[in-house]
Amino acid sequence: MDSNVPKQENPDREIIASIGAGRMGRGIAITFALAGHEVRIIDVKERSSIEFEALRKSAMEEIQSTVNMLSNIGLLDATDITSTVAKVSYFAQYNCASGLNNADIIFEAVPETIDAKEIALKMASRFAQPSALIASTTSTILSDELQPFVLHPDRFLNAHWLNPAYLVPLVEVSPGRDTDPANVTRLNTLLEYIGKVPVVCSASPGYIVPRIQALAMNEAARMVEEGVATVEDIDKATKYGFGFRFAILGLLEFIDWGGGDILYYASRYMTKAMNNERYAAPAIIENHMKDGRIGLSTRKGFLDYSSIDVNEYQQKKLAEFVAMLRHIDKLPPNAVKTPPSPKIHTAESPDALVSIQRFLKAMENNDVESAQIYLSQQFCATYPGGKKFTTLPRLVAWLQKRYQSIGKRIERFDQSQNGTESIVYCYGTLSGAWVDGTSFSDVRFVDRFVVIDGLIQSQSEWNDIA
Ligand SMILES: NC(=O)c1ccc[n+]([C@@H]2O[C@H](COP(=O)([O-])OP(=O)(O)OC[C@H]3O[C@@H](n4cnc5c(N)ncnc54)[C@H](O)[C@@H]3O)[C@@H](O)[C@H]2O)c1
Repeated sequence: MDSNVPKQENPDREIIASIGAGRMGRGIAITFALAGHEVRIIDVKERSSIEFEALRKSAMEEIQSTVNMLSNIGLLDATDITSTVAKVSYFAQYNCASGLNNADIIFEAVPETIDAKEIALKMASRFAQPSALIASTTSTILSDELQPFVLHPDRFLNAHWLNPAYLVPLVEVSPGRDTDPANVTRLNTLLEYIGKVPVVCSASPGYIVPRIQALAMNEAARMVEEGVATVEDIDKATKYGFGFRFAILGLLEFIDWGGGDILYYASRYMTKAMNNERYAAPAIIENHMKDGRIGLSTRKGFLDYSSIDVNEYQQKKLAEFVAMLRHIDKLPPNAVKTPPSPKIHTAESPDALVSIQRFLKAMENNDVESAQIYLSQQFCATYPGGKKFTTLPRLVAWLQKRYQSIGKRIERFDQSQNGTESIVYCYGTLSGAWVDGTSFSDVRFVDRFVVIDGLIQSQSEWNDIA
């Protein structure tokens, strides 16, 4: 099998091509441009030069206005708008070879028909460099069906994004039967690097999210049809009950939380009462019942809770719910309105102070690039895990990933240095504001490390993370 997994070391330098300039193509272009990648949008449809120019103009205008909006809402600094949009270039069909021939990853985002996919994938395959990875973005067609259209099926897979691609973290990666697993890793690494959350699923209809949401959405529509509740109330219920819960607990984790037995009995009742098999629980639920895998109460369900402190786990999840309640302004009337202040220690490292002052000076001079390089080189060159970061966003991306893996979310961080070790500490929310330096008047230094919003509790926890 022809396995090519180059540039894994430097996914930040990979050039991205998006075939198709519609909703998904534009979204992918914005996502990668925001992460600093060069992106080519490639139109492989035959059109007149007037039609091409109209599409190019509309795509670039929308990209510009979306990036402006994202800056208005704090996702990127206003000083980065021009350079972000400038990362996106646009190629017509007659010129597509030059757009494709040195792209590292090519996303195919043409309409959802086999014919359009076939033409686009054959074109991508024909002009791609030998190491390029080609990913379809299809939401329904299986990667196995598309694989025959490319010359190197080992380098082909599906990447199902959710709209808007530049905001929704999830990307469902689905390899075909001939995809080299190393290329799944390669794509996942890139996606994680740009702050996405990739999951892998087999070439199965609907992948994960569309399969779940099709059932939920049809059921909501059916309830309108049956007059069960108003449209407004069904949507209120899904936002404040359904969606609210599942932003914190996964569906399977939630079965464990409430108990698989509840789902088992509820499914039996609903099947009978509605006289409809669509509510029947799958065999795995009944088998779990028989095996005593009820969930948290038996310390085993879909997940294994035997080696964790269940109280601590539950408290952590409840804290996340409270944070959500605060965010959506739905705290109970007597709740504490502001989260407890972080415990801040005083600085002890003069080096850190000098570094922060230099950083602030660069920010004052609007020299964001030097400020970032300064921070990343001075502060981030080493840390207890020994990993090097070339830019600050890379460090942020890495930290976010590590925090996600332990079920926490890092929102904003500053960093100080202590001796030869760089020490990262976190507080508040990231939301892009920190790059403009607004919060840096609050910078405090720490002896070893700071407790910020309860994110990191101790040196030993840091050791776990690092
Ligand atoms: N829009 C979504 O919410 C969404 C979500 C997940 C996945 N997707 C998937 O992304 C892919 C693209 O969807 P979209 O919503 O961006 O579509 P779209 O219609 O918005 O854009 C398609 C692009 O392809 C061009 N095009 C039209 N006909 C073509 C042809 N015959 N050959 C080549 N190019 C052609 C169009 O001009 C346009 O630039 C689909 O496979 C879709 O399933 C879309």
